[in-house]
Amino acid sequence: MATASQSVDTGLQQLARRHLWMHFSRMGAYDADHEIPIISRAEGCYVYDEHGNRYLDGLSGLFCVNAGHGRSEYGEAAARQVEELDFYTLWSYAHPRAIELAARLASLAPGELNRVFFTNGGSEAVESALKLSRNYHRMHGKGQKHKLIAREVAYHGTSMGALSATGITELRTQFEPMTPGGCHVPNTNVYRWPDDREPTWAADAIEERIVFEGPESVAAVILEPVQNAGGCFVPPDGYFQQVREICNRYDVLMISDEVICAWGRLGHYFGCERFDYVPDIITVAKALTSAYAPMGAMIASDTVAAPFMEGNASFAHGFTFAGHPVAAAVAMANLDVYEREDLCGHVLAKEGEFRQMLESLRDLPIVGDVRGAGFFQAIEMVKDKDTKESFNDEESERLLRGFLSAELYKRGLICRADDRGDPVIQLAPPLIADTEQFEEIHDVLSTVLAEAWDQVVR
Ligand SMILES: Cc1ncc(COP(=O)(O)O)c(C=O)c1O
Repeated sequence: MATASQSVDTGLQQLARRHLWMHFSRMGAYDADHEIPIISRAEGCYVYDEHGNRYLDGLSGLFCVNAGHGRSEYGEAAARQVEELDFYTLWSYAHPRAIELAARLASLAPGELNRVFFTNGGSEAVESALKLSRNYHRMHGKGQKHKLIAREVAYHGTSMGALSATGITELRTQFEPMTPGGCHVPNTNVYRWPDDREPTWAADAIEERIVFEGPESVAAVILEPVQNAGGCFVPPDGYFQQVREICNRYDVLMISDEVICAWGRLGHYFGCERFDYVPDIITVAKALTSAYAPMGAMIASDTVAAPFMEGNASFAHGFTFAGHPVAAAVAMANLDVYEREDLCGHVLAKEGEFRQMLESLRDLPIVGDVRGAGFFQAIEMVKDKDTKESFNDEESERLLRGFLSAELYKRGLICRADDRGDPVIQLAPPLIADTEQFEEIHDVLSTVLAEAWDQVVR
């Protein structure tokens, strides 16, 4: 368990303050009283800071260390690969590990999703899917099909194309103008819907937007199986089936952005399997290697890939390091672990117990909703359970950044306290987590959420 207020004057702290630019971080917040959290060691479900304090990694790094920390066999696979072939590029060449991994991903993916285009991460996978969607329609003589429909509050990455899909206003405005074509529609935040709303209302909204924009201008719809930003929005029954039909009707590609939801997070290799739909393109990254090496991929259906596989055609897109042999070897080792330990089966067997533990927190006055699927769950916090009244910006700032984030960390739990929609706490532990970790999460959350109510809300 972590302890409070230790010296911030270590050498690493000084160097980090002077030279490291942390992502999405308020660097100015690290003053004499607030140290930069430096994580220096990890094992299983736990990470350790530079002082030796232990934390339960309730976020799997950033939704990515799904097989858990500290598995030396991944390093051994990387070392073997460096000895055999350190690097070769996929620009006009192939190498054994990329070929084997592509075939393995195709064998795991549903339907006719058989063509794998590697990237270095999630934003690049999304960027690739958006470019492929436009290019695919152009190859069919429909070059005016360029628009992209995404959902409000969804996060799809930070590169300029991916950002045009990201539906979080604060992340967009500083970089405007956006890449043209991004349109946003309502998400499936069912907790905030009126009781009498049809379950497939949000799918209808996608059709309305396609018709409004003009189907001849729309290239693709991009959605996560369970939307992360906003706090684990689960689709209502029939939602994805209806979206699939709409995409077919208007010749619009369906992109399932599974950068978080693939690789067992929802108890299946792919999130779309959980909700029984087959998209045209799947984007993955993060836990493809359980984050032991950076890697992502866009997996396209045979139909979408077909125009690029004949004659002189090519997809004029790529990244030097994508499909790196060392990352591919690590991904193969990772998938071996998934098979050997049946990590997806473990999630399906244990998700009920995990959820039950979180449901028991509904007794606390601040807990308005508990939602999610698999090992991907969120708690929405409210001021009033009956009216579902949420917090204004200033209150939310005080609650999340002024209290919860620091308190949870101090008590040894890393999770996400977030207000990209309404304020939520998100949990996504490594897929090896079990009763012991669920109880630990429960103990920290019940204490800290009760204190948050007493000290910040009331
Ligand atoms: C759904 C989704 N898409 C894309 C991305 C971008 O991935 P990356 O940070 O690897 O570029 C993320 C990152 O969290 C994500 O959650």
